[in-house]
Amino acid sequence: MPGQAGGAAPFPDPLSRSAVLHERARRVLPGGNSRHSVFFPPYPVYAARGRGSRIWDVDGVERLDCVNNYSSLIHGHCHPAVVDAIARQASELISVALPTESEVKLAELLVERLDAVERVRFCNSGTEAVMFALKAARALTGRPLIAKIEGAYHGSAETASVSTSPDPARWGEADAPSAVQDSGSAPGVAQDVLVLPMNDVELGRRLIRRHAARLAGVLVDPMVKNLAFMAVTPEFVSMLREETARCGALLVFDEVYSLRLGFHGAHSVLRIEPDVVALGKIIGGGLPIGAVGGRADLMDELFDPRRGAKLAHAGTFNANPLTMAAGLAAMAHFDEAAFDRLSALGDRLRAGLRDALRVTGRPGTVTGAASLTGLFMTDARIRTYRDLVATVAADPQIMTRGGALFRGLLNRGVFMGAQGFMVLSTANTPAEIDRIVDAVADSLRSLPA
Ligand SMILES: Cc1ncc(COP(=O)(O)O)c(C=O)c1O
Repeated sequence: MPGQAGGAAPFPDPLSRSAVLHERARRVLPGGNSRHSVFFPPYPVYAARGRGSRIWDVDGVERLDCVNNYSSLIHGHCHPAVVDAIARQASELISVALPTESEVKLAELLVERLDAVERVRFCNSGTEAVMFALKAARALTGRPLIAKIEGAYHGSAETASVSTSPDPARWGEADAPSAVQDSGSAPGVAQDVLVLPMNDVELGRRLIRRHAARLAGVLVDPMVKNLAFMAVTPEFVSMLREETARCGALLVFDEVYSLRLGFHGAHSVLRIEPDVVALGKIIGGGLPIGAVGGRADLMDELFDPRRGAKLAHAGTFNANPLTMAAGLAAMAHFDEAAFDRLSALGDRLRAGLRDALRVTGRPGTVTGAASLTGLFMTDARIRTYRDLVATVAADPQIMTRGGALFRGLLNRGVFMGAQGFMVLSTANTPAEIDRIVDAVADSLRSLPA
């Protein structure tokens, strides 16, 4: 039964192994780790091992993992087929400066499965996948401008990270949002980014038309995790498809996260054919991966060295055999029946969370689809990044009641995303979903009013 290990004190506990490890880690790693998203105050728990839906920390505390490495573990931890594929591959070939059959097999699976993908090129992260997809748009059109949604996260590459979390003092007018670049980006990066408010069809159309002559591509994630798992509306993506086709720009879907929304891709659920799709996370079976996929003619023009590829594409670990083997095993086991079963678990979770809010009388909103779920402690209707910022300004604790819900769950054996989300895996059972819901209800009851 997940929860506190025998004798372990509740989190946070300054005497725990995690607390001590964090102190030691801070001497060699700024902040104690290598990834901002895994830090939570006062110290993150350090993981020791995982199996299926569960993880154990270094203090021996067992929890249900509802983060699944930010969605990349579609089968949870150490699925036997994935472990076996990695072990077999590791004994044959770990990395090599030649292509391998494993790369062909994973590419075949993706091309067969994803409607908009006729060719694919691998890289090592979602960040790289988005970066190459945007370079593709610029290389093919010879134009500089990339449009993206205000507040949407697409990884850390310079163009993609413009206006991911712009400060209200700098974000400009609502009908002409300023492009605000990340600190550390090269000067001028934001000049070639057009920022669109989420789901505003008419404004989006006007802005795109105004900049059409310079527009290389529009980047959009069908469901934006850091905008409370807000989904694009069919009208908005249809407008993006129409307007990009009209001015000869590329429509780029970021399905690094959102691939979980549809067995044939989120684009197939929306019935939209993007020109290029950025992929990552689940297609690597838990190992580092990214990929760019798209229409055969575009992809061949961009990447085929026999035709004088338009885009330089190197990477020492691109399509490395270990990742390819893990990705193939994971994706082969994630068949349509597994997808449907997992989505039903997501529906059960969302229904249970809505009930928990109702029964406890707490304000809250449940968002998401398929295996991705958002839980926010506010009834406010959030439609755009600016709505979200205004809501948080009015009540800074909405994400997880200032971490109290997150900590309440951590101490009831459930590890949720600290920003208020849960990502399920095929290792979850209906009974576990009910346990998560009970833990949420119990935590909600114990929150201060
Ligand atoms: C929508 C989206 N795009 C891109 C990325 C970047 O992927 P990676 O962390 O593999 O670089 C992420 C990561 O969470 C993401 O959610």
